[in-house]
Amino acid sequence: MIVGVPKEPISGENRVAATPESVKQLVKAGLKVTVQKGAGVAAGYADDAYKESGATLTPTLNVASVDVLAHVRPLAPATITKLKKGAMTIGLASPASEAASVKALRDQKVTSFALELVPRISRAQSMDALTSQALVAGYRCVLEAAMRLPRFFPLYMTAAGTVPPATVLVLGAGVAGLQAIATAKRLGAKVNAYDVRSASADEVRSMGGTFIELELDASADGAGGYAKELAADRVKRQQELLTPYVTAADVIITTAAIPGRPAPRLITAKMMKDMKPGSVIIDLAAETGGNVEGSKPGADILVTVGKSGGSVTLVGMKDVPSSMAYDASRLYAKNISNLLELMVKDKKVQPDFEDEVVAGACLTHAGEIRHEPTAEALAQAKSVGKGKK
Ligand code: NAI
Repeated sequence: MIVGVPKEPISGENRVAATPESVKQLVKAGLKVTVQKGAGVAAGYADDAYKESGATLTPTLNVASVDVLAHVRPLAPATITKLKKGAMTIGLASPASEAASVKALRDQKVTSFALELVPRISRAQSMDALTSQALVAGYRCVLEAAMRLPRFFPLYMTAAGTVPPATVLVLGAGVAGLQAIATAKRLGAKVNAYDVRSASADEVRSMGGTFIELELDASADGAGGYAKELAADRVKRQQELLTPYVTAADVIITTAAIPGRPAPRLITAKMMKDMKPGSVIIDLAAETGGNVEGSKPGADILVTVGKSGGSVTLVGMKDVPSSMAYDASRLYAKNISNLLELMVKDKKVQPDFEDEVVAGACLTHAGEIRHEPTAEALAQAKSVGKGKK
C-alpha cells in the first residue's frame, strides 16, 4: 500500500506530514511511501534524507495513485475528488469549519482520519496532534513575548543593581498554557496562571506556576476534560476578578479555548488600560476570535495605556506550529505514523473500528460521516438552508 506525502499547498504552512524518521517507521511496518520532491524543505528535511529512509520521491504527487494520503492542513475538495474511491486520508481536517471538505470525503467514500478527533486517552497520547502542536505553540508564545519585552525574565543581582524578575500571567492552562508556564519558569520569570477547569490548579502547580483562585461560583468542567462556555454574568465577573492580575503583569499569554466555539473573551480593552507601558500580551487564540479584545492574527498592535502615552504590545499569534516547522513536523509526523502503524495488519492499513482510538479518529467511512457531532451539524445546516428557501 502506498502512503503519499504532498508538499502542503497552503502558503505559510511549512510543516510536512512525514519526516525521514517517520518514513522509516512506515516502511518497517510494510508500507511504501511516496514523497513529493521538496515536501520537507520548508521544515528542514531534505529530499535525500527521505530517499535514504526508504521513500520514493516524485516531482508531483498524483493523489489518485496513493492508497493513503497523509497531510497537515485540511484537504481542499478539489484534491479529495481526485482520490481513489475508498482511499484513506490522515491529517488535520477541522471538521467543525470545513464542511465542504467533509462532504467531499463522504461523497468520495474516503476513509478519513481527523487527528483532532483522536480520543484524549493515555493510550492515544502518541497519536495526539492537538497536544503535540499545542506544546510547540505554548513554548513559542513565551519566546515571542521575551523578544518584545524591554526587560529581563529572570532575577539579576549585579554590581550595578538588582533587576527583579518579570511577572508572567498565563490565562488558560491546557496543553499550550502549561507549556507556556514551564517555558517562562525556565527563563526565570514569576508565573501566575488561571483556568476554569477544576483539575487545572494542580496541573499549574506541577509546572511551577502559582494558581490564581478566583471566586467564581463553580468550575466550568465540560465533557472530555474540556471547559464549558461561561454564562455572560460569569464572563463579566471573571474579567473583574482578573483585572488586578492583568494590571500587575509584564507579560500575559492567553490560550483559552472551548472546542467548536469562538475563543472566550478574557481581557477587554478596559482591563488593559492600567497595565505598565512596555508590557506584552500574546494572544494564542487570535485566529479563533481572540481572548483579548482587539487582537488580530499575525499583527502586533500598540495599545495606549495609562496617562503617559506609553503602550502595551498586543500580539495576535498566527500559524504558530508552522513557525517551528522542524520540531512541529517531527512530532506531527510521528503522531501520523503511530496512528497508521496501529492500523497496519499484514502490511496493509486495515482499520479495526472496534478499537476506540481508530473509531474515535474516523471522520468519514464508506460514504458516511462517522463523527456524530459533525454529521449533526451538517444535517442542521442543511435543514436551515431548506427553511430559508
Ligand atoms: P483547549 O485548547 O480546548 O483549551 C485551552 C484551555 O483553555 C483549557 O485548559 C480550558 O479549560 C481553558 N479555558 C476555556 N475557557 C476558559 C476561560 N473562560 N477562562 C480560563 N480558561 C479557559 O484545551 P487543551 O489544551 O486541548 O486540553 C483540554 C483537556 O484535555 C485538558 O483537560 C487536558 O488535560 C486534556 N488532555 C488530555 C490528554 C490525554 O489524556 N491524552 C492529552 C491532552 C490534553
